[in-house]
Amino acid sequence: MAVPNGIPNVPKPRNTITVIDNRTGKTIEITIKDNSVPATAFTQLKAPLAANERPENDTPYGLRILDPAFVNTAMITSSITYIDGNKGFLMHRGYPIEQLAEKSNFLETAYLLIYGELPSKSQYSIWSWEIMNHTFVAEDLQSIIRQMRYDSHPMSVFISAFAAMSAFAPEANPALQGQDMYINDKSIMNKQIVRILGKATTVAAMAYRIRINRPFTPPRSDLSYTENLLYMMDHMSEPYSYRPDPRLAKALDILFILHADHEMNCSTSTMVHVGSSLVDPYSCVAAASSALYGPLHGGANEAVIRMLTKIGSVDKVPEFLEGVKQKKELLFGFGHRVYRETDPRSKVIREVADMVFDVCGREPLIEVAIALKDAALKDEYFTSRKLFPNVDYWSGLIYKAMGFPLDFYPVLFVVPRVAGYLAHWKQQLDSGKNKISRPRQVYVGKGRRDYIPLDEREERTVTSKDGITEIPHYISKRRLARI
Ligand code: CMC
Repeated sequence: MAVPNGIPNVPKPRNTITVIDNRTGKTIEITIKDNSVPATAFTQLKAPLAANERPENDTPYGLRILDPAFVNTAMITSSITYIDGNKGFLMHRGYPIEQLAEKSNFLETAYLLIYGELPSKSQYSIWSWEIMNHTFVAEDLQSIIRQMRYDSHPMSVFISAFAAMSAFAPEANPALQGQDMYINDKSIMNKQIVRILGKATTVAAMAYRIRINRPFTPPRSDLSYTENLLYMMDHMSEPYSYRPDPRLAKALDILFILHADHEMNCSTSTMVHVGSSLVDPYSCVAAASSALYGPLHGGANEAVIRMLTKIGSVDKVPEFLEGVKQKKELLFGFGHRVYRETDPRSKVIREVADMVFDVCGREPLIEVAIALKDAALKDEYFTSRKLFPNVDYWSGLIYKAMGFPLDFYPVLFVVPRVAGYLAHWKQQLDSGKNKISRPRQVYVGKGRRDYIPLDEREERTVTSKDGITEIPHYISKRRLARI
C-alpha cells in the first residue's frame, strides 16, 4: 500500500513470525529470541480430527515439530562453545580454538570450558593440583577393571569403569543423597569434576595395559596431564624417573584441547539428556562415552585408518572414490552436521601430524590420505554436498604414527571430551532450569486393536526378513528339537 508521499508503507519489523494454520485459519504470532522460536508455541495450533485422520495423530492436542536426528532443533541454550559451520570457525567461551591450541594447555582449557573464564595463576595451580591428585582409582575398582578380557574394545573397558565408579561413589549419587545435592552444594559438584577428570586418564591407561597384558602403572602427580597418561601406558621396567617424550606429550595435549568440547554433538547431547534425569555424573559419563565411540562419531578416527589401509595405495584412490559416489562406501573423516567448510580443528591437527612425524617417523598412509583428500576436494560429488575433512581425518594418522592400537583411538578422543561433558553437566544444573529431557514422537504404528489369544491366531509363514519372527538360527538343531 502506498502512503501520500509515494513511499511504500513497509511494516515496522517485529522480532516475531506469524504462522497461519490453514486447517482452521488460526493465526499465531511467535516471538523470535536469539534467532530461535520455542517449539511449544506450535501446540497452540489445534484442529478437529478430520474424517479420515488417525486419532493417534493427536491433532486436537496441538501440532508437533518433527525433526529426526535433531537436524535443526536446539535442545539447550549454552554459553560454552560456538561453531560457525559456514565459516569453519570454532570458539570456546569466546576464545578461538586456534589461539587455545597454540597458547593454552588442556587443563587450562578444561577450566575455561567448565568455569567460563581462564583461570588466574593461583586458580590454575589449585585446579591442576586437584586433578593430578585425584588420579588414583580404588583398589576394588581396579580389580573389576582387571577382569576384562585382553581383546575387549578399550572403550568397553572405559565405559564399564565409569559405570562401576558410580558404585564406588555413593556420596555423589543424588539417588542416595537427595536430588538437590548438586544444586545446594557446589563443593560436592567441584569434587566430582576433579575426580572424573583425574580418573579418566588412569582408566584409559588401564584399558591399554589390559590389552598388552601388563600390570597397571600407578599415576604420577608430578607430570602434566598428558605426560602422566603416556607414563601410565608406557612405563615398564625403566627407572621411576622415566618421562615420556615431551614433544609427544605436547602433541597429545594439543589434540586434547582440540577434542575438549564441540557443543551439542551426539555424545555431549547424551550427557545433557542423561544428566537431566539427575542421575550421578559417573553414570552420565559412561552413557555419553558409549554414544561417542560409534563409527559415525568418535569412532571415525579408527574407521579412517581402516579405510586408508583398505585403499592401500595412491593409485587406488579414484576407484575408492567411485565406490563412495555410488554409496557403496563412506569417506570416513569427511562431512559434518554443522561444518559446511573445513573443520578448523583439522587444520591445526595437520600441523600436529608433522610434529609427531618428526619424532616417530612419517606415517606411510599419509600419502594415501593426502591424495584422497585432494581428489575429494576437487570432485563435484563432495564439493556440491559441502563435504570437507573433519577432525577425525588426520587424528587417526597421528595416533597410528605414535603407535597406539587402532581401537584405542576413540579413548584418546573421549578422555578430553570428558571436560566438555562436565562443562555441560554443570551448566545445566547451575542454570536452575533443569527439566527432564523427554522428546515427543509421531506415532505411525497400528491403531488400537484387541488382543487375540495364542490358540486363535492365524498361522503365519515367516522369514528372517521380518526381522523378528523367524526362530533364530543360533538355536542349534539339537536344542530346537526339544522346543
Ligand atoms: N562420505 C560420503 N558421503 C557423505 C559423507 C561421507 N563421509 N558424509 C555425508 N555424505 C553425503 C550423504 O550421503 C548425503 O548425500 P545425499 O544428499 O546424496 O543423500 C549428503 O552427503 C548429506 O549427508 P548427511 O548424511 O545428511 O549428513 P549428516 O549431517 O547426517 O551426517 C556425518 C554427518 C558426520 C555423520 C556424515 O558426514 C558421516 O557419516 N561422515 C563420516 C563419519 C565421520 O567422519 N564422522 C566424524 C564426524 S566429526 C567428529 C565427531 O563429531 O565425532
